[in-house]
Amino acid sequence: MPSFTFVSTANAVALRGATPVFVDIDPRTLNIDPDQIEAALTPQTRAIFAVHYAGFPAEMDRLNQIAQTHGLMVIEDAAQALGSTYKGRPAGSLGDIAAFSFHETKNIISGEGGAITLNRRDLVERAEIIREKGTNRSRFLRGQVDKYTWVDIGSSFLPGELVAAFLFGQLEQEEVIRKARLALFDRYYSAFTDLEQRERVSLPWHSDDVTGNGHMFYLLMRDIDDRDALIGHLHKAGINAPFHYVPLHSAPGGRRFGRAKGDLPVTNDTYSRLIRLPMYFTLGNEIEHVIDVTRSWLIENV
Ligand SMILES: Cc1ncc(COP(=O)(O)O)c(C=O)c1O
Repeated sequence: MPSFTFVSTANAVALRGATPVFVDIDPRTLNIDPDQIEAALTPQTRAIFAVHYAGFPAEMDRLNQIAQTHGLMVIEDAAQALGSTYKGRPAGSLGDIAAFSFHETKNIISGEGGAITLNRRDLVERAEIIREKGTNRSRFLRGQVDKYTWVDIGSSFLPGELVAAFLFGQLEQEEVIRKARLALFDRYYSAFTDLEQRERVSLPWHSDDVTGNGHMFYLLMRDIDDRDALIGHLHKAGINAPFHYVPLHSAPGGRRFGRAKGDLPVTNDTYSRLIRLPMYFTLGNEIEHVIDVTRSWLIENV
């Protein structure tokens, strides 16, 4: 898995007693670099995690091909990628298993929560059992058994009805929400294009194989000093613009539960230069203020 991801990706592995192995990312996509994966494989390796950073799907054909060659599963961390596509197919349908997040920072939210999607029929029944506290209640509800009982390990993974209803209303509006966010993404993109051409910042990049979902907009600065100075400047103007992510291999938890394959220079460099600009459904015309404050700082200082 990439080290440039949220802790949940690695926790999913460490919680089961396995070891997250961190590999570097591609400097253009900021997703796992397929060229780095094979060197990190060992006879213990079970799966490749594809994190779709900023909602842009990873290079899934390459990842699936490597997985097939080595008998591994591909698990999509599609936390940020609801509504995105790869070669016309939706994120979450591109590997063996995928996880979506409905955490409050995502396009569609239920406060806390998420969903799993399975691309393999042979995994469906086990997943039903796990989410139903280790029981075969789903078979019972379908009339396939006359009572349900404890059959495997599981937990209480289903949302309550109030949360489910709150979430469902947004799922019905998913396209509306995605289009509004994509319009904000495009506005940011066009507002900074000239500065990218003058090499003052870099903007998000994606291949023609993928479409995004307007989950996030980021700038890549020249170095950590520029990053910190711009974050500080925006903060003073009342604009919250955080960086991303403290690389997991450098974190205490990452060192304790995982290991890195190599020094991961692209991950470290990206962390030191990336700034996320405000992005939410109701941002509206306030985006112009964010653009003005950011642009004038860049023109004066970079
Ligand atoms: C890439 C990625 N994976 C996983 C998560 C975690 O999802 P959750 O908070 O629902 O566990 C997030 C964000 O919260 C994320 O950005």
